[in-house]
Amino acid sequence: MLRQTLLLLHLLGVIAWLGGMFFAYFCLRPAAAQVLQPPQRLPLWSATFARFLPLMAVAVVVIIASGLHMLFSVGLGAAPIGWHVMFGVGSVMAVVFGAVYLRVFPQLKAHCAASSWPEAGAALNRIRQLVALNLVLGAVVVAAAVSAR
Ligand code: HEM
Repeated sequence: MLRQTLLLLHLLGVIAWLGGMFFAYFCLRPAAAQVLQPPQRLPLWSATFARFLPLMAVAVVVIIASGLHMLFSVGLGAAPIGWHVMFGVGSVMAVVFGAVYLRVFPQLKAHCAASSWPEAGAALNRIRQLVALNLVLGAVVVAAAVSAR
């Protein structure tokens, strides 16, 4: 019962995180670029991330806490290789998320507040690259999780 609850929380966090990044990258990004000019588009992204990132911080904590609990209740030695890969690559994803939330997003916000659109655009582009990286790593982690079945 505890393990099923932890797995449920783990997967709900994963779905929100990967699904949110997928939507932002493949749907909102091209639509916003098509419809809005930088003075409208960049504040939209800033306001979107101001809501998305704190929610994902909760999701990342839930994913790691539930994952570690499930991993250590089995023991590192007995865990399949896929779980080790999940732990390693998932930790890298968490660091990349931290860089977006704590480093690049504050820059985007500050440049938007100052109406410095080229600088804000550069910050948004760095976030885009980091989100693309985490989408690829997320796919690797899900493949590793499935391979452990
Ligand atoms: C970073 C620390 C993480 C740890 C320690 C961890 C650990 C685990 C463990 C032990 C399980 C197996 C539960 C079971 O079958 O009883 C699991 C399941 C799973 N994890 Fe993670 N995980 C982590 C991060 C992630 C991330 C970042 C993702 C996705 C991007 C992810 C995706 C999944 C999926 C899809 C399953 C379900 C696998 C299945 O039931 O076949 N995990 N995780």
